[in-house]
Formats: sequence, C-alpha cells, structure tokens
Amino acid sequence: MDTGSNGFEGMTGRLAAAAMARLNRDMERAAVAELDPAPDDAVLAVGFGPGVGVAALTARLTAGTVGGIDPSSTMVELAVRRNRAAVEGGRVRLVVADAASIPWPDGSFGAVVAVNSLQFWDPLDVSLREVARVLAPGGVLVTLTHCWAIEKRAPVDEWVEMVTVLLRDAGFVGLESRTQPFRSGEGLVLRVRAR
Ligand SMILES: C[S@@+](CC[C@H](N)C(=O)[O-])C[C@H]1O[C@@H](n2cnc3c(N)ncnc32)[C@H](O)[C@@H]1O
Repeated sequence: MDTGSNGFEGMTGRLAAAAMARLNRDMERAAVAELDPAPDDAVLAVGFGPGVGVAALTARLTAGTVGGIDPSSTMVELAVRRNRAAVEGGRVRLVVADAASIPWPDGSFGAVVAVNSLQFWDPLDVSLREVARVLAPGGVLVTLTHCWAIEKRAPVDEWVEMVTVLLRDAGFVGLESRTQPFRSGEGLVLRVRAR
C-alpha cells in the first residue's frame, strides 16, 4: 500500500495500518534479521507505521532500546498501542517526527532501520544527513522498500543510482544492494554504514 506521505493520518491511516500490519509483516521481520542487532543495541525505526517492526526489534533488544519516528500521529498512536508494555517500561520511545528532523542528539543509535518509508523522505538528501547524524560512527542503516513503490517515482536502477549518490554525500560508505521477494512483492534491500 502506497498512499502518499499524507495518506497515513485519520481513518485512511487506520485502514492503511491494518493492511500494512498484515501484508508487510515479513518485510519488517526481514529488516530486523538483516540488521541483526546485538541485544544491548540502540536502534531507531523510521516510518514504523503500525509498529510491527518495533515489536520485532524490541523482542531482539532484550537489554537495548528502540527509538522510533513517524510523521503520522495516527501511526504513532497505533504503534504505541501495539507496543504499550515496552513503551511504558521505557525501552521504546515513539514520537511524531519525520526523517528530515530527528529529535535525538548526534550519535544516539548503533543502527537505523526503515521499511517502506525511504521513498517518502522529503527532502531525501537532508533526511539522509539527519540519519547519518544520529548514527554512531560505523553504525548501520538498513532500508527495505517495495520495488513497486519505487517504480511510481523512477525505474529501480535509476532510483538506486540517485540514492547511492545521496548516501555517499551524506557520509555513508560500503553500500550493499539487492532485491528479495516478499509477500507483497519484490523488495529493494539497501545496507550502508556511517563513516
Ligand atoms: C508505507 S508506510 C510503511 C509502514 C511500515 N514500515 C510498513 O512497512 O508496514 C510508510 C510510513 O512512513 C511514514 N512516513 C512518511 N513520510 C515520512 C518521512 N518523511 N519520514 C519518516 N517517515 C515517514 C508514514 O507516516 C508511514 O507510517
């Protein structure tokens, strides 16, 4: 489901969230497996939607913490509800914010994960620099994005070329890229490291 970045609020957002929680569950879990965090890591989830990935991260980070940002107050409400015990216990903090302005200090996270949200980051260059800023040196960014959502913007190869340049300009190194089949279609997996 790709409703445009403004389609995630209110009733439209609730309907989208119900579909995403079901259809994108495997991508969210694959993103956590790809990240492979240590139990005591601090990980930021960007564009977490209904919070399925936040729950998967929390289960892995038995001694760590999860931060999360999403510009949709509806998604934050639903994700807080899905992760209520961890939020109330202080292990998870989910806030309304977008990738271009992340309300955490420099170097706060060992890893950042974004599933089906990179295509909405606006401006993308500013957002990637923000992600680089909140990552500790050597920290990892993993993104998984439906190819069909990318293709609404540009052919996947061209989009990867464009993102590669922006990632490099933002200070990331060691880009790895591949596609992988998921329940709701082919996904583009990007993995990169902050310098
Ligand atoms: C297609 S949904 C994906 C949700 C979930 N990660 C999944 O795959 O099911 C995109 C999410 O990105 C969020 N989003 C939109 N623009 C964003 C931005 N600029 N920065 C961070 N998240 C954004 C939306 O509010 C929405 O929750």
